Formats: sequence, C-alpha cells, structure tokens
Amino acid sequence: MHHVVQVALALSLALPCGGGERPAIGATIEDLRFTDMHWLPRSLADFGERKAFALVFTTIDCPIAQRYLPRLIELEARYRERGVQFVAVDVGAGDSILEIATVAAEREIAFPFVKDFDGRVVAALGVERTPEVVVLDGARKLVYRGRIDDQYRLGGEKQQAGRADLASALDDVLAARQVEIAETPVDGCVIGSLAPASPRNDLTWARDIAPIVQAHCQDCHRPGQVAPFSLLTYRDVADHAETIAEVVRQERMPPWFGSPSYGHFTNAPTITAEQRSQLVDWVRNGAAAGDLAHEPAPREFPASPWRIGEPDLVTRQLIGTAIPAEGVIPYEYVILPHVFNEDTWVDRVEINPSNTRCVHHANLGYFKLTEKFSNDNFITGFVPGGDPLVCDPGVALKIPKGSLLGLQVHYVTSGKPENDRISVGLHFPRATVERELRNFQIHNSRFAIPPGAGAHVVKAHATFERDVTGVGMFSHMHLRGRDMTFRATYADGRDETLLVVPNYSFDWQQSYRWSPGAEHFPAGTRIDVLAHFDNTAFNAFNPDPAATVRFSEQTDGEMMYGFFFFTEDAQQLGLDVDPSNGRVRAAPPPK
Ligand code: HEC
Repeated sequence: MHHVVQVALALSLALPCGGGERPAIGATIEDLRFTDMHWLPRSLADFGERKAFALVFTTIDCPIAQRYLPRLIELEARYRERGVQFVAVDVGAGDSILEIATVAAEREIAFPFVKDFDGRVVAALGVERTPEVVVLDGARKLVYRGRIDDQYRLGGEKQQAGRADLASALDDVLAARQVEIAETPVDGCVIGSLAPASPRNDLTWARDIAPIVQAHCQDCHRPGQVAPFSLLTYRDVADHAETIAEVVRQERMPPWFGSPSYGHFTNAPTITAEQRSQLVDWVRNGAAAGDLAHEPAPREFPASPWRIGEPDLVTRQLIGTAIPAEGVIPYEYVILPHVFNEDTWVDRVEINPSNTRCVHHANLGYFKLTEKFSNDNFITGFVPGGDPLVCDPGVALKIPKGSLLGLQVHYVTSGKPENDRISVGLHFPRATVERELRNFQIHNSRFAIPPGAGAHVVKAHATFERDVTGVGMFSHMHLRGRDMTFRATYADGRDETLLVVPNYSFDWQQSYRWSPGAEHFPAGTRIDVLAHFDNTAFNAFNPDPAATVRFSEQTDGEMMYGFFFFTEDAQQLGLDVDPSNGRVRAAPPPK
C-alpha cells in the first residue's frame, strides 16, 4: 500500500459534513452513495428491499478491522438468508479499488465492498472508527451504531466475546423489537479526517502536466485509438479536466486490472503516485496552461495503423458487419478468407477492427473448415487497451496446415448504426525459431452458480510436465466473473501467487505479461486457477440474478478460462522460416 498512501493524502477531499451533527439513533438516513469495485457510482437503493443493512467500516491497514473479517463472514452467512444485507465500506485514505478487491478475493468475501471516496457515507452515518458497524432497518432508520462485539480490543483480546452486540442488534431488528443497546463504543482505528494536503498551486500544463499525459494517456487517447476522446493538446485535456481528476484519483485510468500485490508485468501502467497527485492538484487549482510556447514537442506516433509494424500478411473480413444502433448483440463469428496450406509460423499478430469503438472484445483462433470455432485454438485477443501479440525473440506460434483464422467478436452498440470490418495482420519470424509459444487453457465448464451467490468458487488446474518459461496470463469470464487468481505450487511444495485479477471486468480483458525469461516453472509445477462469480443483483452487469448459471459461450452463461502462455525450455526447433510466407524452409539440421 505504501505507494498509494501518499497520493491519497494529497488527493483526498475535506469531509463534506461541514461540522454537521452525528445523526441520532432513530434518524432516517437518506440514500447513501458510494463507489463499487467497478468504479461505478452506486447507492443503498441498488440493493432493493432488505429487512436490514449492516454497514461495516473498514480499511486495509487497520489491524482490528482485519481481525474481525472472519467474524463478519460468519455473521453475514448467518443473517443473509434472513434478509440482512452486509456491506463493507472502505474508508482507508490510501486504499485503492484494486487493493480492496484483492482483500475481498483472497478472503473469499461474499458480500460487497464499496469505497467511500469522499467521506460522504462516514459523515452521513456519524461513524468515527473502523471496524464500526451501522445497522439500518428496512426503512433506513438508524437502529444501531457501534462495535461488532467486545472480543478484540486495541491492546489485547478476550477468550470469548462478551455480548454479541451486532448479532443482538440484528436479532432485535428482525424481530421488530427496539434494539436493546443501540450504541456501543468502538475500539479501532480513527477514520482519517481526510483533510486536504496543501495542494501545489504552481503546476502548469506546459511544464508539469503535458509530459505526464504524453507518457501515460496518449497511447490510447488519440485519434484512431481505443479511447473515446483525444488528450493531445492543452485544450483537449482542459476540456475534460474534472473527469480526468476523478479517474486519476480513483486509479481507474490508466486502466489496469491486476492486483498491485502480486507479480511484475511489463504491460502494467508506470504512472507514479506523485504524477497522479500532480494531475489532480493541477485540475483542482484551475488547470493552468502556463507558457504554451515552452510546452514539450508533441509525441510522434507511427503513421501505420499497425502496432506490430508492417505485417507480412493481412487477411481481412470479406464483408463488413452491420451493428445496429441499440440493443445487445450476440457473439458474431467472423471467418477470415485465407487458407494456410502449410504449417505457418508467426511471431506477431494484431487484430485490427476498422471501427474500434464498436468492438468490445474479440478472440482470434485457428480452425479447420470442418470444425467449429473453439477457444482451444486460441491465438490472441483484442480488448480495449490491450496489446497485440508480440513474441519474444526466437519464439513463434504455429498455425497448422489446413487452417483458417476465425474471430469470435463481441460488438457493442454506440447509439447509431455502425459498420466494422476486421483485419488481422501477421508477421513472420526473421530469426531462427527455437521455441513454440504454447498455452494452457486452464478451464472448468462443470459448474452451476446459484442465484444470488456473491462469491461462487470455480477451480481448475494444470501441471507442467517439462521445465517451462512463463510468458504471461489472461483471464476470461463473462458478466458474473468477479475475480481470478493464478497460483503456482512447485514440486518442492513452495507456493506462490502469480496474479490476482481482483475486480475482473468483461470490458477490459487484459493480458498480464512477464518480462522475457523472468519466470521459470520447473517440471511438476502445478498451476491452480481459482475464480469467484458474483450472481447477486448488486452486480451491475448481471443479466439475470435469478438464474442458475452454467457454462455457455454466450454472455448470459459463464465461462471460466485461465490462459497461461509459456515456452518449453528444452525445445530447440532450429527452424529456418521463410520470411515471405512463414513456412519452414528446410528440415532442421541434424543434431
Ligand atoms: C490503455 C488505454 C488507455 C490509457 C493508457 C488511458 N486511457 Fe483513458 N480511457 C480508455 C478507454 C478505452 C476509455 C473508455 C472507457 C470505457 O469505455 O469504459 C477511457 C476513458 C477515459 C475517461 C472517461 C471516463 C469515463 O468515465 O469513461 C477519462 C477521463 C480518461 N480515460 C482519462 C485518461 C487519462 C487522464 C489517462 C492517463 C493518465 C488515460 N485515460 C489513459 C483507454 C485508456
């Protein structure tokens, strides 16, 4: 957390309570607003009718709040069936959404975590410490405020809790009785006053901000790229200043969905906490232009639409796809008109829609004409903000003789009729190909996610039979996918978490790439993939919380796929590939 703490101090706002009164027991609380783990603005009303709400205030750092998590999990399981909605409200000034969601994933917490970014919920309920709990009845009347129980204290603990304060309060509410003890003192960590640090007020676009935006935003925020608007000029940025401050402060941009607690990935954003706080402070202080005569020269971008460089072969969809103005579009299956008559080796692959705005994501695979498209022959995907497939030197991917390329495309509507024609660019290797890029699709399709489940677990695993070098990982689920964890258990029993995607987003199916040669997995290493699915009504993307959800390639069903890309260390193919067509020129020399 260390790196985030600083920013948050600098970024946080003053409490909007303005010296307001703590609401009294018995007061009716107006609808509370907070941010969910997908950065969406949500409110208590989104839970629908409940007999009671138990709002637990937490931070990632507060030791007592953390110690109480198992008790909360147990209480929530006990009271869920009886109509009580538990919500964990994170108030840690330095806790990012990714960090909070990581805790929820690791502890397998079934109730939602939300974030009180601006202290509004704290002020509205008058809480002062974590882990303080507020119970509201079904009509949002404040009926209990205080501790969970008295077992864990600041300076120690009791063998057993004396009075189960929260449980008693819930029992009283559910029995429509007056809560016997409606207020109790809370040991724990003081909720920060969130006082604004003195923001720097001399920041200017020309001197301080332009370099940050150039380096960390313009790859996507420029014409023809995935982001919805350009951030090339002072005007572009000033026009979106307020929303930029929000997305940067909340760490929603630049987009990244890997937990900061695990792994080092070469494609993770490199923006620093200091740069984030500079951007936000600059906006807060009026987004000054400064001396535009001295702003840095514009960044130069390649003229080619291909990020892999000029491809050696481009295969393009024959007829474009018409996308209606509105509605939800089922997967389109697109076949590209190029038959690979021989085994063909490629070392870079890019999927290039003509209309990036409408392509939500697309998966590319090879298939034989007689077969149906399947994820088994997955090559690479296209996702907003994703990178094309670029193999490390000496590594390439084989498209088998007799195959075609096919795409499974998920289109989204834009409000007006649109058209898209997808091209795929392939680059053939120039250097001798020694190792084949392979992947394990660690998947499980035998599951049934019950209606209303908050964290339904689905697991799968695979074991390496040979020594391999890891290239990267990729997770694929649908709209109920909540989180996915990749863990390695080595033959000597040691285990390691490789990646947690804590708040999986169907919209942002990123890959997680290691630097070349950084991760070795000896023969016998087992890779476990564990996913949680959220089939509650609070999941804003859930198409039907009343359904029991099983495997389906359509988005109203679910998929659980952990892709693990690797090369085999012992492989020495020594293939001399013809750069004009990707075919092997001669048999490998005898050893
Ligand atoms: C990897 C590509 C990528 C990078 C890098 C990136 N953005 Fe974005 N940005 C997007 C996409 C795509 C969207 C559209 C989001 C969506 O549709 O959910 C977006 C949306 C936004 C929005 C609109 C907010 C909203 O509600 O959608 C803002 C503001 C924004 N970006 C600011 C920034 C800033 C500032 C940076 C740099 C610090 C940045 N972005 C870096 C891809 C990117």
